[in-house]
Amino acid sequence: METQNISIKISKYTSLEELSKEERLLIEAAREIAGKAYAPYSRFQVGAALLLENGEVVSGSNQENAAYPSGLCAERVALFWAGTHYPDTPIKAMAIAALKNGEPVARIAAPCGACRQVISESTHRNNTPFSLLLVGKNEVLKVANANDLLPLSFGPQDL
Ligand code: THU
Repeated sequence: METQNISIKISKYTSLEELSKEERLLIEAAREIAGKAYAPYSRFQVGAALLLENGEVVSGSNQENAAYPSGLCAERVALFWAGTHYPDTPIKAMAIAALKNGEPVARIAAPCGACRQVISESTHRNNTPFSLLLVGKNEVLKVANANDLLPLSFGPQDL
């Protein structure tokens, strides 16, 4: 028997000034779009913003439905929109922010397992790993390669 440790490097920022201007704008875009989420059932609004290599920022918010499982998370709304309209454009960075009852979440906004699976595939799609910014009220966690959030992932290599 052999034991392996898998570790991921996460950088914690307590001041936005420590981040680049591009990253600050992306965080702002994620926060802004979170406020437009359609989340009347959970009152948990999530925003995801993607910086594309062509400089464009595309974003998405969670879209809930009275038939609960029919809704979709913000991350997948944003990634599928980008994949539809910019299939060949690599993603440089992604930011995720959330509001609970209209207030920024104290803890960071962490993507659910299904979104991590889609994020992971997106990092392989154009062969460009991208960074992930998880935005909290007073802190931002940065993962240099978003794929790191899903160790031992199932991906195209498994088919
Ligand atoms: N949600 C997201 O948009 N992203 C996640 O990664 C976690 C959860 C949404 C789904 C649902 O509309 C609400 O947050 C509460 O779960």
